[in-house]
Amino acid sequence: MQIRKLTGHIGAELLGVDLTKDLTPTLIADIRQALLDNLVIFFRDQTLSPEQQIHFAECFGEISRSPVYRTLEAYPKIMPVVKESTDKDIIGDTWHTDETFQATPPLGSLLYAREIPPLGGDTLFANLYMAYDRLSDALKEQLSDMRAIHSNDFLSTNAQLRNATRSTKLREDIGKINTSHPVVRTHEETGRKLLFVNQPFTYCFEGMTREESLPLLQYLYQQSSKPELTCRFRWGPGSMAFWDNRCTMHYAINDYPGHRREMHRITVQGSIPV
Ligand code: SIN
Repeated sequence: MQIRKLTGHIGAELLGVDLTKDLTPTLIADIRQALLDNLVIFFRDQTLSPEQQIHFAECFGEISRSPVYRTLEAYPKIMPVVKESTDKDIIGDTWHTDETFQATPPLGSLLYAREIPPLGGDTLFANLYMAYDRLSDALKEQLSDMRAIHSNDFLSTNAQLRNATRSTKLREDIGKINTSHPVVRTHEETGRKLLFVNQPFTYCFEGMTREESLPLLQYLYQQSSKPELTCRFRWGPGSMAFWDNRCTMHYAINDYPGHRREMHRITVQGSIPV
């Protein structure tokens, strides 16, 4: 396996791997290390059945089912992420970390391209370790004991309205899911600190109102999506991205009107952020 870095700070393509072949413990350990080192890894030209994608994901932990989006009837472990050529809207077109409103947000997500538009539809990824590292010592100190409330409010409010213009469907029977996480998270495998807030799901700082929280939150969001902390992936047929959801954000670009895009997402169960 060869590792080709995409930028100086995040993202790498793993070359010479066929995910349909036997996945030896050594190869899985190497892939896991590449994920920890690069935060998001990419495979190209894979021909995977749903079963093979599930089998690969299960090499990294138990699969968690999205509590808010509908999954495939035949494969409940797979969440389809689809934009039909006639759709106006998509999911994920804002910087976010997946499902941080859960007490145990996913460890990572594996997104496999089944159909891609002729151009456009790229995905951006951002490095949340660096977002933290670059803050001043005084701000790091201020944030060190703070916690934030994360909520699915952004998705559950007007779920019906959102479903009207998107093919990736929210479940409409879901109530509010709220949880609290540290603002500065320590990654359980690398031991590195990172900034763990994101615009759609972080509602406010614990003990403060949303109005009081927003100015500082907005500043942190701006810092975490600076171009130099990011990489951009151009999908090809059979590409798969695997991001470490504990230390990254991502952003899907909606710039392919009139074209279809179909992806299959699987999330691996994470642990309680500390
Ligand atoms: C997502 O936010 O999980 C979807 C990303 C994408 O469609 O590129």
